[in-house]
Amino acid sequence: MTIIIIGFMGSGKSTVGARLANRLGLRFCDSDNLFESRYGSIRDVFAFEGEDVFRQRESQILHELDWTQNFILATGGGIITRWQNMLFLRNRGRIVLLEPGFDVIQTRLRDDVTRPLWQESSDEQARLRLYQKRVMLYRRYADLIVTSGDESQIEELIVKYADF
Ligand code: S3P
Repeated sequence: MTIIIIGFMGSGKSTVGARLANRLGLRFCDSDNLFESRYGSIRDVFAFEGEDVFRQRESQILHELDWTQNFILATGGGIITRWQNMLFLRNRGRIVLLEPGFDVIQTRLRDDVTRPLWQESSDEQARLRLYQKRVMLYRRYADLIVTSGDESQIEELIVKYADF
């Protein structure tokens, strides 16, 4: 089974995805990494070409993945901002939402300088609003919601859920 991991920035998608793939002997793809290896840093694309260009290319990357064999996909946190992405992903794997909570996210992203939408939010209130708005969307598309912040626990839950 293909597992598609969604969630807010800093929710652990890439870390958990890589661990899971390693454990299950499946291929691992990280859409942000694929993006950056092709187009350069996400921060620069946001700064010089804008979010729309970023989103178009991000969608394109989803379409270009090899979906013929099961794998683990870690998506960028904004993948749910385009419903077309979710329509595309819905039939291609189980969608797992990592939702460790705003406090955990905030701690993890305290010193982060790579995520434009987090940086651009003027203060904690703005970040919380973005988080809350996003959480509604993530939940709408999730087949499984994992609220734990502990990586090995998350891994166990997903393995059990997917019956690997
Ligand atoms: C974004 C999340 C980032 C990255 C970009 C936009 C978002 O990915 O794709 O900065 O809109 O939430 P991560 O969730 O891996 O940080």
